Amino acid sequence: MRTPLIAGNWKMHLNLDQAAELAAAVAGVAEACPDREVMIAPPFTALARVREVAGERLILAGQNVCWEEKGAFTGEIAPPMLRELGCRMAIVGHSERRHVFGEDDAMVNRRLRGAMAHGLVPILCIGETLDEREAGQTMAVLERQVRDGLQQVEISEAAGLVIAYEPVWAIGTGKTASPDQAQEAHEFVRRLLCEVYEKNIAAGIRILYGGSVNAANVDEIMAQADVDGALVGGASLSAETFERIIRFA
Ligand code: G3H
Repeated sequence: MRTPLIAGNWKMHLNLDQAAELAAAVAGVAEACPDREVMIAPPFTALARVREVAGERLILAGQNVCWEEKGAFTGEIAPPMLRELGCRMAIVGHSERRHVFGEDDAMVNRRLRGAMAHGLVPILCIGETLDEREAGQTMAVLERQVRDGLQQVEISEAAGLVIAYEPVWAIGTGKTASPDQAQEAHEFVRRLLCEVYEKNIAAGIRILYGGSVNAANVDEIMAQADVDGALVGGASLSAETFERIIRFA
């Protein structure tokens, strides 16, 4: 019932020619896999070039988005700017934004609502650090990030949301959460969404797993009942590896 979504976050990588080449390859795979959605979030500077080769099926996303539609916000990108570049989605609250750039739940919530107000589907990223996991705080952290991240998002708007569970200790480290750990967190988030909204809405919200997803572990992770897709960093920069991930069994 939930269409799988395989998303590649290119972070701060690739020049324009490399971006266009990779996007063209991924677009071809997306065309060949009509039963799943494929998304890429290139650096902002590559979006115009990538759009030329993306075709209809490959979804483009911003790696972040501002809450305002214009104004004195140096370094930010407004939702209509992303729309103009063909983006349909935007990542908000990625752990690198939270931990490297100090974004808090209130700011993530503003970004999420800004995206939605302009017709962009937000991917709300959540996840605990290693210290938080070891201190037994994982579920409390996820609950706070979900509840605060979705403040003022009405039930009528919630159906289109996407959430990405990315344990911080698994991002770029080669340490993937075990399939059981991923399922436990995803199931918890879905139960929470039932409380915040209602069962039917929660059942339709896609929850992606992110953190060292690769060609060797994607099948097992995607086999979990509450895992509806993957948010892939490093492995999305190789056309061959990302194709294998998109074609998960
Ligand atoms: O947005 C993607 C995540 O940060 C995961 O990155 O696949 O390189 O661990 P990774």
